[in-house]
Amino acid sequence: MFTTLVVILAAATAEPQPNTQIEALPLSAALPGDTPAKIALGRLLFFDPILSATRDVACATCHHPQHGWADARPTPLGVHASGIGPTRKLVQGAAFLPLTRNTPSILNVAFNGIESGKPFDPAKSPMFWDNRVHSLEAQALAPIRQREEMRGDVCRETDAISAMIERLKKIPEYVKLFGTEITADKVTQAIAAYERTLITPDAPFDRFMRGDKTAMTAEQQQGMAAFQKAGCALCHNGPMLSDFKLHAIGLTDSATNRTEFRTPSLRNLKHTAPYMHHGGNLTLDEVLLFYDRLMDQAAETLEGADTSTLPPLDPLLRQMNMLPEDHAPIKAFLDALSSDHYDKSVPDRVPSGLKP
Ligand code: HEC
Ligand code: HEC
Repeated sequence: MFTTLVVILAAATAEPQPNTQIEALPLSAALPGDTPAKIALGRLLFFDPILSATRDVACATCHHPQHGWADARPTPLGVHASGIGPTRKLVQGAAFLPLTRNTPSILNVAFNGIESGKPFDPAKSPMFWDNRVHSLEAQALAPIRQREEMRGDVCRETDAISAMIERLKKIPEYVKLFGTEITADKVTQAIAAYERTLITPDAPFDRFMRGDKTAMTAEQQQGMAAFQKAGCALCHNGPMLSDFKLHAIGLTDSATNRTEFRTPSLRNLKHTAPYMHHGGNLTLDEVLLFYDRLMDQAAETLEGADTSTLPPLDPLLRQMNMLPEDHAPIKAFLDALSSDHYDKSVPDRVPSGLKP
């Protein structure tokens, strides 16, 4: 009797439980100002290396349709390198290290921050593994300023955006396409409008949730139940299979000592290996084995064992309950979250005349 009471009291004072609902994506991410002309301009800018001070990196260098709009590398190489994807190499003699975080796919990035049953405000969309920037428009300036990504040592960080505008102004085709003046706002609005077209709301999971009960196989449906039972949806929930919150799940960024990262979307994993903020997990099997170990560690913290040597762990992990026999169905379910139907086209040419 006494223990029951304690349990009830503990439950009443505990943190509110997350909404573990998962659901289909909206069919469009377009905003009212996203005209076909703006989207077409954004596409050219996204593929044009002229946005980089070194003229050798485009947004698409790291977010490439061939690699699920990511780069299939643990961590990317930016300036002074050549090639796309896993074979990208620094040009000889260049002293630029790879970046420290894995490149996320920009498929569906327009829906970052979306939650079940709540209004969605794209102006507040969290960006990056640590949610440090909000909105697609604000995000687009960050890589242009960053030394290893698109700036190199050509100009100072504070001049990177104005120098990029000056480069665009010298290209008559851009002057014509922008119409009036070329500004940083117009550049980022066009890129964001284009990014809002890169969505996959027709994965088998979405079709299933919209009522097509044949869209997911029996194993995938069983996997969806196992995913909920195992506690994955405590964090991977809503239409993106992400709560867009920061959680400590035992991984540390060695460069910054950060231990909390944003729950990544689980959409299109089929196209976006390797996984995690450091790109250290090559397969989904590895990820699931990682969670097996993590559940053990989280249980130890509950039992009061000496955990001073472990990185901090989110208490939600103690509610996880995945069994070895859940791995196969969960993987089948994750597959139902991937779509092969997305824009894979690359422009034949870009206005700078550089290679897109
Ligand atoms: C050198 C490779 C590289 C280039 C070039 C690059 N990105 Fe990224 N992008 C990344 C990496 C790595 C991250 C994650 C960084 C982090 O979380 O700290 C990222 C994150 C993003 C995100 C946020 C994704 C999310 O879910 O939070 C968007 C959007 C994005 N990039 C768009 C762009 C645009 C637009 C450009 C061109 C202006 C660009 N990127 C250029 C590698 C690159
Ligand atoms: C406590 C919150 C939480 C729970 C519960 C959780 N995850 Fe995660 N998941 C995260 C976070 C945070 C990351 C990113 C960590 C990092 O990279 O440092 C992540 C990363 C992943 C990734 C890598 C995705 C990518 O693109 O890199 C996969 C796959 C994944 N989780 C699947 C699962 C599955 C399957 C379950 C259930 C067995 C689960 N997660 C349970 C928070 C959670």
